[in-house]
Amino acid sequence: MTKSQWHPSEDGINFHTRKWVKPEDLNANGTLFGGSLLRWIDEEAAIYAIIQLGNYRVVTKLISEINFEASALQGDLIEMGLTATHFGRTSLTMRAVVRNMITRKRILTIERLVFVSVDENGQPTPHGYTDITYDRDRMPREHSATGSIRIE
Ligand SMILES: CC(C)(COP(=O)(O)OP(=O)(O)OC[C@H]1O[C@@H](n2cnc3c(N)ncnc32)[C@H](O)[C@@H]1OP(=O)(O)O)[C@@H](O)C(=O)NCCC(=O)NCCS
Repeated sequence: MTKSQWHPSEDGINFHTRKWVKPEDLNANGTLFGGSLLRWIDEEAAIYAIIQLGNYRVVTKLISEINFEASALQGDLIEMGLTATHFGRTSLTMRAVVRNMITRKRILTIERLVFVSVDENGQPTPHGYTDITYDRDRMPREHSATGSIRIE
């Protein structure tokens, strides 16, 4: 493989989180269990939404059609990537790709994951953002539930 084929991103997606497929992640067929993968993606999307919307309170609203394109096996290294595709008033829509870290073969794609920013009563609240941040600049200074404070 030439160096030019070895890009860290794909369609604007940066792959941040990596996973090592272990025995507890497998289905009865001996390949990666779809439920494990969805759990990882949902968590990854929640963290991404928190960073983009600057609110610790975000909830999964919708996960569109999930396309399991290839399977992963025990011992495989996989990587997950997300990018925001639409900033709504209270929502954020993302696209997700999971692929094999070594071969870059796609394992899963999800065209639309919608998360909603909510207030302390669980009601949708406007986030005020319209574009992607690549920094941590939107994070609240303090987590009201845990009292943790961001170190500047
Ligand atoms: C998320 C929740 C607060 C939204 O409440 P709601 O009454 O649908 O709120 P709204 O109709 O005002 O919609 C809020 C946003 O979600 C979007 N939305 C609502 N239904 C949607 C759907 N089916 N598909 C895509 N987006 C949708 C709306 O377009 C709106 O986005 P915008 O403000 O950016 O335009 C509510 O549905 C909820 O609490 N759901 C459970 C969330 C949860 O527990 N998730 C974990 C699942 S285990």
